[in-house]
Amino acid sequence: MAGTNILHELKVLIQSMHPVVLMQTIEEERVDDLLRAVAAELKLPIFIWTVTRGLQRVDGTGMIHGTADPKTLFRHLSTLTVRGIFHLKDLAAHLGDPATSRAFREAAQAFGRTRSTIILSGENVTLPGELAREAVPLRLQLPGREELKQTMHRTVHALRDQHTFEVTLGPEGMEQVLNALSGLTINQARQALSWAILSDGELSAEDVPKLIRRKGEAIQDEGLLEFYPPEENAFELGGFDRLKAWLARAKMGFGAEARALGLTPPRGVMIVGVQGCGKSLAAKVIAREWQQPLLKLDAARLYDKYIGESEKNLRKVFDVAEALAPSVLWIDEIEKGFASGGDGDGGLSKRLLGSFLTWMQERRAAVFVAATANDLSAVPPEMLRKGRFDETFFVDLPEPSEREEIFRIHLRLRKQDAAAFDVPALAVAADGFSGAEIEQAVIAGLYKALHDKTPLTTATLLDEIGQTAPLSVVRREDIARLRDTARGRFVPVK
Ligand SMILES: Nc1ncnc2c1ncn2[C@@H]1O[C@H](COP(=O)(O)OP(=O)(O)OP(=O)(O)O)[C@@H](O)[C@H]1O
Ligand SMILES: [Mg+2]
Repeated sequence: MAGTNILHELKVLIQSMHPVVLMQTIEEERVDDLLRAVAAELKLPIFIWTVTRGLQRVDGTGMIHGTADPKTLFRHLSTLTVRGIFHLKDLAAHLGDPATSRAFREAAQAFGRTRSTIILSGENVTLPGELAREAVPLRLQLPGREELKQTMHRTVHALRDQHTFEVTLGPEGMEQVLNALSGLTINQARQALSWAILSDGELSAEDVPKLIRRKGEAIQDEGLLEFYPPEENAFELGGFDRLKAWLARAKMGFGAEARALGLTPPRGVMIVGVQGCGKSLAAKVIAREWQQPLLKLDAARLYDKYIGESEKNLRKVFDVAEALAPSVLWIDEIEKGFASGGDGDGGLSKRLLGSFLTWMQERRAAVFVAATANDLSAVPPEMLRKGRFDETFFVDLPEPSEREEIFRIHLRLRKQDAAAFDVPALAVAADGFSGAEIEQAVIAGLYKALHDKTPLTTATLLDEIGQTAPLSVVRREDIARLRDTARGRFVPVK
């Protein structure tokens, strides 16, 4: 059964005489469950319409002849005197026809009098303008814990009929399975769980990471988000002391003590600054520090025409992030997805910005937004206004001590003993280098050493460094401009 909130919302809509409710979802079964619960509470009959069967009672009796044709359906509905809930499935495709759409409006008006309600469900339902005004949208969020728990029990139960398998998980393990399933639709959760059980004939602790990976794939398949489960997040960030201190403090906001004091969890940070200096890495490290799942939204991809409707996609992104809460939503290159100026795209980017800001303001789930931006001048000023993000950080080129730390991280990541190198000398030589350039120097040095069949040495690295013209030299003016704009307005990360 669906969450209690939505149940309440739908009940109120029906009671307050809304003739048409539009539920955008592919999860038809959940709508069925939800309607059954609401109808039971309100003591109303449910009728279901599909294009194959026409209109019939929910129990399959009393099929009404001829109603498979949408126009006949609506004519029939307009004459009804019985009060009820009418769930019309896959109807949207037929509403483009003017006569059908007219008949629909008349039925809606009649329902205003009889106090019946039409529920329209389906994915990507777009109503013609005049109908859109009659319909109230109701969002079916991704399933909550209670619903997933039931799905889990039902799935295990149903599989028992046909298969033998063992469940070797205690209550705590079951909680972990539940965590692993959150963020999925009921259908996806059912499939993932069945797969986990049937692939090795048991549901055990080993299935938890498998389920998490599977969830990542399911989320990625939608095309917009990348998913990094906390278990796999091992990113290391050198420097950024202030940001790190901020994170340690902000983490308190997720705890019970903070809640008892009426404090709300942190909401987000914006990280702007010089290319290759670890902005993206910082976003990953936030999730790692807090041990939360990380979702990456590539803001530029919101416009990918192969992915489909941008605004609905953005909604979905919010849904997934909320279902995974507490979670970190990392919006990379945020300036590419949301803009306040320019109507070149028919106002789309403006609308996306509006949806984003509204969600930032209203969201109640603990979704922390980590936004990164390269081009400060393209970031809409609304976004930088106080109160949107908890803090805006500016990332500059690393200082000598930070460069040392970055060298050590990247040497270690490539199985080198950092103590065997003169790291301070490397850091001095790499003056003006970004973190990415330091990493590149280490990689290039390793290639050379491999080629020469010698171990990597400080001298080889110094040589590589000497051959690199860092971006900070090549693009000195750009960086100076960025610093000028940022200085004084934002908190440095160190
Ligand atoms: N402070 C740092 N500590 C460790 N590694 C770093 C640091 N800064 C950069 N790097 C290395 O450089 C790579 C590129 O950094 P990252 O992508 O985070 O930079 P960015 O600021 O997001 O750059 P861009 O503006 O190009 O998006 C990282 O994957 C990491 O390997
Ligand atoms: Mg980046």
